[in-house]
Amino acid sequence: MLNKNYKKLLGIIITIVIPFCNGCKKEEVIQETTPTPIQEEAQVQEGFDFEKGTVLLNSGYEMPIIGLGTWTLSNEEAENSVYEALKCGMRLIDTARYYRCEEGVGKGIARAIKEGICTREEVFVTSKVMPSDYTRAAQGIEDSLRDLNLDYVDLMLIHQPGSHDEEVYKALEDAVKEGKVRSIGISNYYTPAQIDEVLSYATILPAVIQNENHIFFHNDELQEYVKPYGIILESWYPFGGRGHTSESFNQEKIMEIAKVHNKTSAQIILRWHLQSGYIAIPGSSNPLHIQENYDIFDFELSQEEMDQINAINENRRYENW
Ligand SMILES: NC(=O)c1ccc[n+]([C@@H]2O[C@H](COP(=O)([O-])OP(=O)(O)OC[C@H]3O[C@@H](n4cnc5c(N)ncnc54)[C@H](OP(=O)(O)O)[C@@H]3O)[C@@H](O)[C@H]2O)c1
Repeated sequence: MLNKNYKKLLGIIITIVIPFCNGCKKEEVIQETTPTPIQEEAQVQEGFDFEKGTVLLNSGYEMPIIGLGTWTLSNEEAENSVYEALKCGMRLIDTARYYRCEEGVGKGIARAIKEGICTREEVFVTSKVMPSDYTRAAQGIEDSLRDLNLDYVDLMLIHQPGSHDEEVYKALEDAVKEGKVRSIGISNYYTPAQIDEVLSYATILPAVIQNENHIFFHNDELQEYVKPYGIILESWYPFGGRGHTSESFNQEKIMEIAKVHNKTSAQIILRWHLQSGYIAIPGSSNPLHIQENYDIFDFELSQEEMDQINAINENRRYENW
């Protein structure tokens, strides 16, 4: 059982997660005193690796920090967007059972693999157990795997808090033990009390929290709260979501900074997410936008620019689920 009394010990455990093969499962060793060379190596990997575009999760797996979101995409659009994303170098794909496009996502991945663009191991696929499956979570996970046409998903999230969270979490832990899911995450959990509740029954730490997060609404306090557990925040609605993107893209300071770096507003915003320690999964059905969203590793925002963007925050959410 994990509870907040074990926070300190957990911090120690998390910093000594060891990589034993590149991009593969790492081994956990608990050691409180003299750091071993392996521990030091693990500590170097703390935070985002901008060279590789990845972060080492507390589960021991590497997760890309920029990817493609697939909400509102049809199966056909999802297939095409996923294929285009993988073709341009993105390796993180976010989908959900609820989006009803897992089949398209699976086809896009299969097409890219068939053409030699990437291997299955190189792609990081996230899906989510949807609320209507909470009383049949194990079957919901099987349904996702079937539609995605995959043997495992890299990250499976509880889509939002519900009345059967503990049962769903247990099903996810069972799926990890069976090799069907590699890392577990939660989505739409915003308060320390909600996190504490999950930690009270978890035997495998959640690796990721995926929440609404953008320039008008930050998750900074939550990010601080879960840091000792090595849990990473991931932003949904990185641009504010469909119907709201112009508010973000036309924000005066964002446009000013975009001009300085000769980049688009979208690229400035995504770079702000990453430099803030947030994984970002912009949704798109436009191949040019997808390429643009991945082309964010050749510049850096200064601390002053980060502070200016941070000051845009209005603590204003677009959704309330
Ligand atoms: N866990 C949850 O509860 C939850 C909730 C919502 C979303 N999500 C996930 O988060 C992902 C991101 O959220 P979202 O897709 O709803 O919103 P978003 O990423 O904030 O915005 C998507 C919108 O941005 C446009 N766009 C993308 N790249 C652009 C670019 N470079 N220039 C101009 N416009 C651009 C897209 O249009 P085009 O198609 O024309 O590019 C689309 O209209 C979702 O796809 C989904 O995977 C999760």
